[in-house]
Amino acid sequence: MKFFVDTADTKEIADLADTGLLDGVTTNPSLIAKSGRNFLEVVKEICALTDGPVSAEVVAPDFDGMLREAEIVRKLAPNVCVKLPLTMDGLKACKRLTNEGTMVNVTLCFSANQALLAAKAGATFISPFVGRHDDTGQDGMDLIEDIRLIYDNYDFTTQILVASIRHPIHILQSARIGADVITAPPAVLKGLAKHPLTDKGLELFLADWAKTGQTIA
Ligand code: G3P
Repeated sequence: MKFFVDTADTKEIADLADTGLLDGVTTNPSLIAKSGRNFLEVVKEICALTDGPVSAEVVAPDFDGMLREAEIVRKLAPNVCVKLPLTMDGLKACKRLTNEGTMVNVTLCFSANQALLAAKAGATFISPFVGRHDDTGQDGMDLIEDIRLIYDNYDFTTQILVASIRHPIHILQSARIGADVITAPPAVLKGLAKHPLTDKGLELFLADWAKTGQTIA
């Protein structure tokens, strides 16, 4: 399973890229606004921090506008992935762009039927939002299971990119289901390495090691 980070904070991205565990980055208009940076500048900078796909979302609501904006965005770097909303115009733009060899992430997916359409439109990634689904009282992970089943039934190659991840359980469940990618905020990704028994165990080992008076040199 690939790990993407969901942020436009270049310092956080650089830190995670340093670990060698980062496979890509996703952004959205809200994250760009949070960064306070110029959209095109920050996307270009992020693309230089990772070799993996960097999702950059267009904001035009119509097909022609989407293509106009996509044209500007995809010239930024070879690893740009154009992010399009799951609307009829977005699907039409997805078909056009993927036919031209551009990576596309279809976002704001809340149903398995929407995911089926995105796969038929040739999307590179489909982004179902599990956390926002949970917020409505439904289980977001049920949606991931349905999409996995449907994509496997027809050998669709569109990658399931689980988005709107709020906590480590979402990541564990994504891995159990066989999602292709998760994207999560930096704090959630870093939190995966944490376990109180690891901290406690390390403390004990180091205390015992100190008693030996040895150094490794
Ligand atoms: O990038 C889209 C998605 O991950 C947004 O997450 O937490 O705003 O629902 P959230």
